[in-house]
Amino acid sequence: MPAKRRPLTTLAADRRLIAPSLLAADFHQLGAEIERITQAGADLLHVDIMDGHFVPNLSMGPGIVKSLRPHSDLPFDVHLMLSQPARYVKAFIDAGADHITFHVEADDDVEETLALIHSLGCSAGLSLRPKTPASALFPYLDKIDLILVMTVEPGFGGQSFMADMMPKVRELRARLDAQSRPVHLEVDGGVTAETAAVCVGAGATMLVAGTSIFRAEEGVTEAIRRMRD
Ligand code: DX5
Ligand code: ZN
Repeated sequence: MPAKRRPLTTLAADRRLIAPSLLAADFHQLGAEIERITQAGADLLHVDIMDGHFVPNLSMGPGIVKSLRPHSDLPFDVHLMLSQPARYVKAFIDAGADHITFHVEADDDVEETLALIHSLGCSAGLSLRPKTPASALFPYLDKIDLILVMTVEPGFGGQSFMADMMPKVRELRARLDAQSRPVHLEVDGGVTAETAAVCVGAGATMLVAGTSIFRAEEGVTEAIRRMRD
């Protein structure tokens, strides 16, 4: 667990933040990969958790997250792609998560799960699959710290960016601008320096990128710098 938890409410919601996704890292040396991304100037570490049920893939559990925690001071932005997120929230927070995002399409009660995350000292976000409309989040806008718009179908890294998600990002941006509470607007899936510009133009403030950062030929530092610019 970090010496001090850093929920996303401690980061300015109007700054562009880069969150490399660990899913694209070299899994045989995750500790070194995290150190590499921390030194390269990442703002957060995005950690994708999959249950083989909500999405057709498995990734990692709280034990791995705990073992990674000493390797970086970056906030851990944990993305739960789970049918029953509430069951696992505490385990991931105990393992060192600073922020937890779960899906509005999951089975659990949304308000109860948000309250659970907040009660354990983390910021809370809601994500939505490509086919879910922005309006699914409207009832929760005053209770969340982050919205995560999926720009691919969740489950796998390395997929192509869905530009047709940009109207959803714009719609949510307009809603968030109309309320005084700051909320981060994150996009995830197929984000490269080029598609990042499209996302930022639509109103995204936080960019998740796996393949385009961890596997960049130019190196991770240059890939992060280009994405930030
Ligand atoms: C997909 C995950 C993403 C994924 C992004 O289900 O939520 O975070 O790792 O990977 P890239 O950037 O390769 O599309
Ligand atoms: Zn993700």
